[in-house]
Amino acid sequence: MSENRGVDYVERIPNNVSLRENRRLLRALEDWQPRFLEWWKEMGPEGFQAKDVYLRTAISVDRQGWAHFDYVRMPEYRWGIFLAEPEPGRVVPFGDHKGQPAWQDVPGEHRGTLRRLIVTQGDTEPASVEQQRHLGRTCPSLYDLRNIFQVNVEEGRHLWAMVYLLHAHFGRDGREEAEELLRRRSGDRDNPRILGAFNERTPDWLSFFMFAFFTDRDGKYQLASLAESGFDPLSRTCRFMLTEEAHHMFVGETGVTRVVQRACELMREHRTDDVRRYGAIDLPTIQRYLNFHCSVSLDLFGSELSTNAANFYTASLKGRFEETKKDDDHALKDATYPVTELDGGRVVVRQEPALTALNERLRDDYIADCQRGVDRWNRVIRDHGIDVELRLPHRGFNREIGMFAGAYVTPDGRIVHKEEWEARRDEWLPTRADQEYVASLMAPVTAPGKFANWIAPPARGINGKPVDFEYVRLA
Ligand SMILES: [Fe+2]
Ligand SMILES: [Fe+2]
Repeated sequence: MSENRGVDYVERIPNNVSLRENRRLLRALEDWQPRFLEWWKEMGPEGFQAKDVYLRTAISVDRQGWAHFDYVRMPEYRWGIFLAEPEPGRVVPFGDHKGQPAWQDVPGEHRGTLRRLIVTQGDTEPASVEQQRHLGRTCPSLYDLRNIFQVNVEEGRHLWAMVYLLHAHFGRDGREEAEELLRRRSGDRDNPRILGAFNERTPDWLSFFMFAFFTDRDGKYQLASLAESGFDPLSRTCRFMLTEEAHHMFVGETGVTRVVQRACELMREHRTDDVRRYGAIDLPTIQRYLNFHCSVSLDLFGSELSTNAANFYTASLKGRFEETKKDDDHALKDATYPVTELDGGRVVVRQEPALTALNERLRDDYIADCQRGVDRWNRVIRDHGIDVELRLPHRGFNREIGMFAGAYVTPDGRIVHKEEWEARRDEWLPTRADQEYVASLMAPVTAPGKFANWIAPPARGINGKPVDFEYVRLA
């Protein structure tokens, strides 16, 4: 690994932040490390901790060639601290501090707010590992098994990324928050994870692929807006995390693509819509899973109108998606933004102050991105000569946060009475029977190159390896 640019692999904690020169911080993180490993062994992937997995590890932060692929046992994964290279002369790109040199230290006035933002992001990382920890037992192939483990170890690294910021910049409060991040548990009644979607169960692989498509994509948009932050260490951390996040969404999108493809193949072969008879997942079931995962992920963006969001922006802490590419004043004090709202029994679009509408704006960017993925799924369906379209549900459907919470909105955006909504719920959201059917398909397939019947093989393998490569050594 002599090609590393500034990544220290000699230390127990690989890093490119010169930890060696900051003994206090190094010692604090070395103290946290065994507790992280305890958490990983207790709550990480169940049943595969001693197996060799073909994983990529970050060895530099260069755009090209940061990844190194090799067999690793997950508890020996080199979780480290990697910040994207500093941008020379970077200035705060938006808000009240716009134009000032980017902060290398936390500004005292924003300390609490910034800590909260970092903790909320950090909490999602171990949560998803916990949600997915039993799925290895029912993997549809070694290729998929390797992919979920890759996602899991990288979520573990994302936790490291946030814990580094807490330890390096927030003193004792930061250290305490870092401990709490290992103590909360997804779905725990007394000590749950902070955000709702991260307390849902991920009981089967269709749910996992939907989660990686919809919920990891929320992560992409949160990280992208934090990557604009005036607090430079947060910006650099998030910029590097985004390179890892791209793979998670690839796993989600291609996973769903392959489930759709398999359904379509069997529909054509047997000239029927009822592919359950042939052991695949039918398109209406896929649509119901899509509706569920999309709606809970939309909630993660928060209320349409939010003074918190406005304050984060004004304080130069959290920007917009692609803030620096936008051609406006980056202050937004007089700007407006169209927001879809509920007005009595009608859905209307109103111009609202752009600052308070920032959550909704990020949600719009997210929805457009999701739609591009759904379009690609629909292309697969069309290519099989099948006249069905998957659709994103209306943003008001099945929401629990924001102005659509408690409203009865159909997936196509009509407001209906509670009775009608309840009566038709099973058309729109996964039913118990759907979940039992999908669960019944979840039998492990672990011979190299073999795939469960309900999912098509991928177009290609990982890192140029063949599809039948032994991605996880189970023997
Ligand atoms: Fe993550
Ligand atoms: Fe992720």
